Amino acid sequence: MDKLVIHGGRPLHGHVAASGAKNAALPILIATLLAPGEHRIDNVPELVDVSFSLSLLGRIGCPSLVHPGGVSRVRLDTTRIAFSEAPYDVVRKMRASVVALGPLLARCGHARVSLPGGCAIGVRPIDQHLKGLEALGCEFELSGGYVNGRVDHLRGAEIHLDMPTVTGTENILMAATLADGVSVIHNAAREPEIVDLARFLRAMGARIRGEGTSTIEVDGVPALRPARRPYRIMSDRIEAGTYLVAGAITGGAVTVEHAPVDSMEALFASLRRAGCEVSTDGDRVHLRRDGPLRPVDIETAPHPGFPTDMQAQWMALMSLAEGESTIRETIFENRFMHAAELMRMGARIELDGGTARVRGVQALQGATVMATDLRASASLVLAGLAAQGHTEMLRLYHLDRGYERLVEKLQGLGARVRRVPDDVRVTALPAAEDAAPGDPGRAAI
Ligand code: EPU
Repeated sequence: MDKLVIHGGRPLHGHVAASGAKNAALPILIATLLAPGEHRIDNVPELVDVSFSLSLLGRIGCPSLVHPGGVSRVRLDTTRIAFSEAPYDVVRKMRASVVALGPLLARCGHARVSLPGGCAIGVRPIDQHLKGLEALGCEFELSGGYVNGRVDHLRGAEIHLDMPTVTGTENILMAATLADGVSVIHNAAREPEIVDLARFLRAMGARIRGEGTSTIEVDGVPALRPARRPYRIMSDRIEAGTYLVAGAITGGAVTVEHAPVDSMEALFASLRRAGCEVSTDGDRVHLRRDGPLRPVDIETAPHPGFPTDMQAQWMALMSLAEGESTIRETIFENRFMHAAELMRMGARIELDGGTARVRGVQALQGATVMATDLRASASLVLAGLAAQGHTEMLRLYHLDRGYERLVEKLQGLGARVRRVPDDVRVTALPAAEDAAPGDPGRAAI
């Protein structure tokens, strides 16, 4: 396994491009199951979670071809479905596999999907997915850790979600596209990735209105067909936001290209209040911080509120603010696993249920850290970039699930960061440009 070694304390400068959005790519790849035939999807990020999705589709009987030189274009053939099943060994690695339930039921009339169970950030049940699909006529039985679903006739229905679940809305939306009649999803999630999924479904012939609002209406159609043109997945707002925070935490100036700027307002507003200059120009975002970091309280909320997927990164930033801030996590019950690791780097954080009180310190110190989930890992990388000395981040595989070419992108911004095998000991670390070329005795970053 690899680890990340970071030599912190250097302001980041330059341009970085946002990749395709993980949380749009996963449901869009799975949504191809709804329409038999050949699909072409562009801007698919090269991530472990994308590989998991393609291998799940392969297990179902739908081969894919990844364009040589990376997975920015994927071709998928969903002509035949051999097994309508998402087995435990796939779902346990990627809980988003549960979005196969709606498409498989709509396409095959039956599906067997492993229950995802809890994860590092919370219990994460799927009761709302099942409730919505039941309203459309599906019947479920749970046995042996699996949800077995059947449906003879999908029919449109009014569905009231108890909370605006993102993948739950996606599952129901996908099934509703092939239902007989009109479906209305009330209290639907409004995340931009759902808007992207709806656009993709529409390109395959679905009739959908209201995506991006809390009421989505779907007129079911008898069949969908592959989109006529390659579909381009939206850019990743969380990845883009993470690079902006990298600029902010190091007191640098970063431009993120291809950013989905319209979906990032809550983060921009918080960054401005924290003392950063943030401006946009088309799909570019420029961030600069010259002055001190001011403490800013945030509370996570469904879109368009402050995204829970940026909460951990925000905590790293606030660890260095001049004063005390409060972070309230309202979406997941256990999403502060990064706090203890940040404290090992010198952050002063008190946790009280879903609230973290962060008292800014003058400096963080590098340490060996590890994280239990993707965004927690991102937060530790950010802390490492700002910290004095060395940080080694173990369990790098979390980052590979959600950040495409993270090391190269950070290096492009001037960060001293390197990926090395776990057993390589990296000690005195000159900056890459200071190291003697070809000096084998030193592992420079
Ligand atoms: N919930 C239920 N019942 C349900 C569904 C959800 O109680 O049937 C609860 C969850 O336990 C949670 C809350 O509702 O407390 C919201 O969960 P949601 O279902 O919206 O989350 P998700 O769909 O499982 C997606 C993203 C997450 C992101 C959340 C919130 C994907 C593949 N995942 O998860 O992304 O944090 O929405 O925005 O889209 C990440 O990228 O790091 C990540 C975790």
